[in-house]
Amino acid sequence: MNWKMMRSLYRWLVISSASVALIYTIVTDLRPFQWTMVIFAALSIYLSNYRVETSKSTFIVLLPLALPALISFGPVWASVIAIISLLSRDEVKRPLPVIMFNDAMITLCVVVAAKVYVLLGGEIGSFHLTGRETIAFFAAGLVFELVNAIIMVTWKIFRDKAYGTIGESYLNYVWHIIRPFLFSTTLGGAALIAYQDYYIIGLLVVFFAALKLREVFMSVEVDEHYRNNAISDVLQAVYAKDAYFRRHLENVARYSLLVAKDFESLDFDIKTFSQAVVYHDIGKLEIPEKILRSPAQLTPEQWKIMKTHPTLGANFINGLKVFNDHQRKMARDIAFFHHERIDGLGYPNHLKGTQIPISARIVAVADSWDAMTTNRPYREALPAAEAKEELRKGKGTQFDPRVVDAFLKAIEKEEKRERRRREKYEAAEKTWHGRLWHKMFWRWN
Ligand SMILES: [Fe+2]
Repeated sequence: MNWKMMRSLYRWLVISSASVALIYTIVTDLRPFQWTMVIFAALSIYLSNYRVETSKSTFIVLLPLALPALISFGPVWASVIAIISLLSRDEVKRPLPVIMFNDAMITLCVVVAAKVYVLLGGEIGSFHLTGRETIAFFAAGLVFELVNAIIMVTWKIFRDKAYGTIGESYLNYVWHIIRPFLFSTTLGGAALIAYQDYYIIGLLVVFFAALKLREVFMSVEVDEHYRNNAISDVLQAVYAKDAYFRRHLENVARYSLLVAKDFESLDFDIKTFSQAVVYHDIGKLEIPEKILRSPAQLTPEQWKIMKTHPTLGANFINGLKVFNDHQRKMARDIAFFHHERIDGLGYPNHLKGTQIPISARIVAVADSWDAMTTNRPYREALPAAEAKEELRKGKGTQFDPRVVDAFLKAIEKEEKRERRRREKYEAAEKTWHGRLWHKMFWRWN
């Protein structure tokens, strides 16, 4: 499918629907200008520079002001305020279609939320804390976030050419974005009531009190987000070096996580593990390209150098400031010990059995699985059945038998799921709407 064309088609579709909606609203529902709108615009500009970063995306929160603006001044002026605040960011430096798309998105959110608010019995111009208006208010908040999330997630699919398996992650992602809506809407409600009762002073007090509160509550979380971002930044550098290497790190992480939950314990938590596991081969950055990309089996001399990568990796991780102590220990253990064997014949320290941390025992299995099932320059990938047999053979010598058992079980479950998905896909292919859906949205990975 031509993603580029789909992408711009989608972008223009959003822009034109927003334009139509805005023009229609101007004609049917334009209310008089009030000078307090300027204060709303100023606060919105302030708020739009306040970004919320999560592990999945960065976004700005306009709802707590857009909603009170919408109810106080109507959808046209609320859209104008929102657009002004978007434009005030670094936005103006972007290409015109991008600016227009973002403005269109916020306009649609405002216009649709206004419609829902009025339909449910809310009155524009003044807000009363009756049951009916409160429900209408929260519904408007939900719809605002929902429209925003759907437009944005659909856009991301076109941009990134899919998000994993689209059907599942689409909803997940939408949910992820609208989750804070209850908080933002409540805040918007407080701002609205304060504005109605105490005018600008009330609005300002609620606004800055909320920002302050949020700062206090979020500081821990924000700190963690930055840490995670920094961790993935380091990986970007690694990824840029070598596509195979990137795939390997990601695959091993994915395979390891399939079984990690079976071994969760006090000193082994999945979250830290998932952050640390992608560093297991980081020491290979210091191995000469000639050896890493050797088209043939390595010579004994080259093997000797290759086998230093766990130690190099552990040293590298020791120096990484992005980790906290717990993360650092986990990442170092994995990098240092993932080539150890249960029977003590591994390297570099010849540890045995439970002397090897569980994290490294898991990665050892996942690492071998990925190595066996991926094509390399000097040999073809093994079929899954043979790779499973190899793991079974290694139970108790190379690998921890419990990890192998859990791993095989998880792989078989994945295979089953994949089979079911394929069957579903093939069944849907038999109908015209199924084929259309697939053409537009489906990707296997
Ligand atoms: Fe390795």
